Amino acid sequence: MSGPNTNYDPVEVAVLDPEAVDAAVASALDAVAGATSLDELKALRATHQGDKSALALANREIGALPPSAKAEAGKRVGQARGRVNQAFAARQLELEAERDERILTEEAVDVTLPTGRRPLGRRHPIELMSERIADLFVGMGWEIAEGPEIEAEWFNFDALNFDADHPARQMQDTFYVDPPEAGLVLRTHTSPVQARTLLDRGVPVYVAAIGRVFRTDELDATHMPAFHQVEGLAVDEGITMAHLKGTLDRLASELFGDGITTRLRPSYFPFTEPSAEMDLRCFVCRGEDPDCRTCKGTGWIEWGGCGMVNRNVLTACGVDPDRYTGFAFGMGIDRALMFRTGVSDMRDMIEGDVRFDAQFGWEI
Ligand code: PHE
Repeated sequence: MSGPNTNYDPVEVAVLDPEAVDAAVASALDAVAGATSLDELKALRATHQGDKSALALANREIGALPPSAKAEAGKRVGQARGRVNQAFAARQLELEAERDERILTEEAVDVTLPTGRRPLGRRHPIELMSERIADLFVGMGWEIAEGPEIEAEWFNFDALNFDADHPARQMQDTFYVDPPEAGLVLRTHTSPVQARTLLDRGVPVYVAAIGRVFRTDELDATHMPAFHQVEGLAVDEGITMAHLKGTLDRLASELFGDGITTRLRPSYFPFTEPSAEMDLRCFVCRGEDPDCRTCKGTGWIEWGGCGMVNRNVLTACGVDPDRYTGFAFGMGIDRALMFRTGVSDMRDMIEGDVRFDAQFGWEI
């Protein structure tokens, strides 16, 4: 039987040699100190902390040592691994802190930086004004109605008491839609919504209809082939022209302020009787310049037509004209915008240049 090998010299186990252990520690500490990123540090762990690292090998060798040598070697290797682990942990914390710091500065949002400066779109002033008008009528308890821009000739003319050969059909300068037999036109006014409303909703009725209308006018500073109207229709028992005047004055003061002067001038429309035009005092010369180009020296600007709904229209739409009366009006919105803001050339309104729209602010 042989006893324990008391002559065993642990120094001979190369990996347990104190210098080798110190060298392993030193190389690990060097590497750790030189790691500049968390990824690099992670990659170093296999070499210096992993199963195949010099210190792990040394640790495994301890088991083979005679008991007398185990304690010392165990302590040395244990301490060495402790130092390496500590160095890794400390460097890990440092690198994490650096990374967090970097993220904070790199990803910070500088709210003072200039933006892309892409110009923003704006709402068109005609839209804004249309909404303001709709709000006024809704506020008075009226409803909003709509009709198609491509309209049946019957609604645009016949239902409104225009005879087949009525000169007003030409007077309206109509765009007819091909083929002519289809009986379709681009609506020349919003008044067809009157007939649609009476047929759809019956009476009593209070509606406003805002929309685009078309006439074959040449485009110049005061005429456009497409423009906008607000149509009003009120049919009830006991409606008089005084109600019409009161409503239009309310609309005028909403749009132009309280000091506005208006006048009703006798006129003719097949679908109203009596009929009138409402004019606004010229916003440029206030009626004081006989050479004024805006009002052509008349002192007044036409705003739109109005009147008491013709009995024939009521009858055509199934309403008893002996029981009900009503008023209607159709006012130009583009005109109103010119008047309100001093835009002197209507062409600016349809060119679609956002710089024009932008002048009217951010109302939404
Ligand atoms: N539709 C007419 C026009 O465009 C205006 C109008 C509307 C007249 C309602 C009377 C009643 O000229």
